[in-house]
Amino acid sequence: MNQLELIQRMPKAELHVHIEGTFEPELMFAIAQRNQIEIPYKSVEEVKQAYNFHNLQSFLDIYYAGANVLIVEQDFYDLAMAYFKKCAADHVVHTEMFFDPQTHTDRGVAFATVINGLQRACDDAKAKFGISSHLIMCFLRHLSEEAAFETLQQALPYKDQIIGVGLDSSEVGHPPSKFERVFAQAREEGFLVVAHAGEEGPAEYVWEALDLLKVNRVDHGVRSEEDPKLMQRLIAEKMPLTVCPLSNLKLCVVNDMADHNIRRLLQQGVHVTVNSDDPSYFGGYMNDNFIAIAEALALDNDELKQLAINSFEASFISDEDKQTWVEKIKALN
Ligand code: ADE
Ligand code: ZN
Repeated sequence: MNQLELIQRMPKAELHVHIEGTFEPELMFAIAQRNQIEIPYKSVEEVKQAYNFHNLQSFLDIYYAGANVLIVEQDFYDLAMAYFKKCAADHVVHTEMFFDPQTHTDRGVAFATVINGLQRACDDAKAKFGISSHLIMCFLRHLSEEAAFETLQQALPYKDQIIGVGLDSSEVGHPPSKFERVFAQAREEGFLVVAHAGEEGPAEYVWEALDLLKVNRVDHGVRSEEDPKLMQRLIAEKMPLTVCPLSNLKLCVVNDMADHNIRRLLQQGVHVTVNSDDPSYFGGYMNDNFIAIAEALALDNDELKQLAINSFEASFISDEDKQTWVEKIKALN
């Protein structure tokens, strides 16, 4: 089978996607109009021209501004449903989707509005496309520990709908240690835990995510390669890294896709997966990410299949479901 066909046909799980980062300019305009909110762009073209990032913060400034037009439950539903349509087209059959409640609650949008819209979309995606999903609530790390505790409190009534908590936003200067106590409480409440670490921040932040936050997965983690001892630990523990190639390119974590380390990480035995992060901002969804690395790094079909297998093995679905998907991938040839 040729590579494009394999990439298309493999079932895949997406473990690192921010729902606010799937906001396509066309939908942003439509929702802004119906909510009568001004956005600082005249056209879809002008929006896309603004997507000229040089680091994480320059992206986050635009990403948070875009999220400001989301007000009512239907907005969150439409946002998530648009993403699920992309999943269906890419044969992504399971997603573990991040959302940033503080981006919305700080503007006066109720936590319930966000979660109810997303949950309704998840239920419809299951019914319409057969796509399963879990929600992961992220704390914004540029905000305080106290604000994170408040958010955790707000989430407790929705515990059954939120499988885990994560940590995102501006990494450098906001180490995982800042949220050690919040994550301890989240784990006590039964949430699984993940954290962005080693995207722009140093390998030290990945150590902190492991030792202090006790994460089940590391988001990004590509800078772990700078620390051989950390690499040994990740490999020994089969700790998943949810890698986002097009994101890393757009935010200048790497200068060229040919320099991306995902293939080296895979070959060394790190449990890496492929993800889109903020696909509407970074130039592509799941399959675009697979195609970009397959071409730039000359991945072979077995490596592509291993990446897809890893996505299910690193997911929070049942062992039985993991086995079903893995077998389907292995049977493709
Ligand atoms: N929020 C949305 N995308 C993010 C990323 N790539 N890193 C940190 N925070 C984010
Ligand atoms: Zn991310």
